[in-house]
Amino acid sequence: MRADTFPFILTLGLSRLGSTLAVPTGSQSDTLIRSSFTELPSVNISMMASTPVPKWLSDFTGLTEWPGADPPYIPLDFIDLKSLPNIPPRAPGVCPPDRSTCSFDCFKCISFDDAYTCPTLSQTFDDGPSPYTPKLLAGLNHKTTFFTIGMNVVRYPEIYNQIKNQGHLLGCHTWSHKFLPELNNEDIVAQLQWSIWAMNATGSHLPKWYRPPYGGVDDRVRQIARAFGMQAVLWDHDSFDWKMETSPPSRTADDIYSDVRRWKDSGVNGLILEHDAYLSTVNSGIEVSKIVGAGQMTVAQCVDSIDYINTFD
Ligand SMILES: *[C@@H]1O[C@H](CO)[C@@H](O)[C@H](O)[C@H]1NC(C)=O
Ligand SMILES: *[C@@H]1O[C@H](CO)[C@@H](O)[C@H](O)[C@H]1NC(C)=O
Ligand SMILES: [Zn+2]
Repeated sequence: MRADTFPFILTLGLSRLGSTLAVPTGSQSDTLIRSSFTELPSVNISMMASTPVPKWLSDFTGLTEWPGADPPYIPLDFIDLKSLPNIPPRAPGVCPPDRSTCSFDCFKCISFDDAYTCPTLSQTFDDGPSPYTPKLLAGLNHKTTFFTIGMNVVRYPEIYNQIKNQGHLLGCHTWSHKFLPELNNEDIVAQLQWSIWAMNATGSHLPKWYRPPYGGVDDRVRQIARAFGMQAVLWDHDSFDWKMETSPPSRTADDIYSDVRRWKDSGVNGLILEHDAYLSTVNSGIEVSKIVGAGQMTVAQCVDSIDYINTFD
């Protein structure tokens, strides 16, 4: 069984009116999850990207536009693909009989360098930046952590920098939200390198923390991310906030609040998984922040470590 399913919202403009395409995949079967990717319209992403491709990046890649949802693999001299663990690609929900691959999505397996908990109850937000993120920023009175999708970073650079300038921590959530264990080594590198470049081109920093979409991580994925200096971030408590967006909705805001009150009243700590991709989940995020109250930490604070590998401004 997969440990979880999450919403996936890649905000691709479908019209000149700037409508967004929400692709909630959570309650669907794995087959549907994959087919929902292939049903994405073929869109000229470069027309949506607002972050310019900087010269250092076009010089290095030879590309002058941001890629689409299947970014090209650009070889890097610090990644030796041949030295990676020999773990065959696997589809979501298809779990290896051998637990030694340390899959989180299959077995909730945690590796030595994963961040998965926190001394205080603390929120985290995935899948942005989105047009709803500013409302969340206005409603929070503490620092929190955002795991951003590269394609959304270059589409909403002002919102990305608003998050940054308000002192929140930004982490990587891949370029286009693929289930990483399903990809070959080159495509995993591509998902990470392009999202790192998106964050650097937009916010002038290199992420230390990444959250694997769908919790899809095993020792092959981890080893590739380590080459970039990144560590996986998992979670203790899933709000399942995206279930408010299934049709019909399979969860209410009150369901979320009663779970959070229960965690709070029972004194448990740890990371809460939420999303800033929808208005509904932004609204619940603000309310959850009030229920949790004082004392929240960013992921870097939770594990007493650095915010970024490097910053350039
Ligand atoms: C995508 O848009 C850019 C910028 O408008 C344009 O130069 C390029 O030719 C377009 N590519 C495709 C495949 O339509
Ligand atoms: C990050 O951006 C800086 C410019 O701000 C550039 O010099 C550097 O090479 C970039 N590094 C990576 C890994 O993207
Ligand atoms: Zn996600």
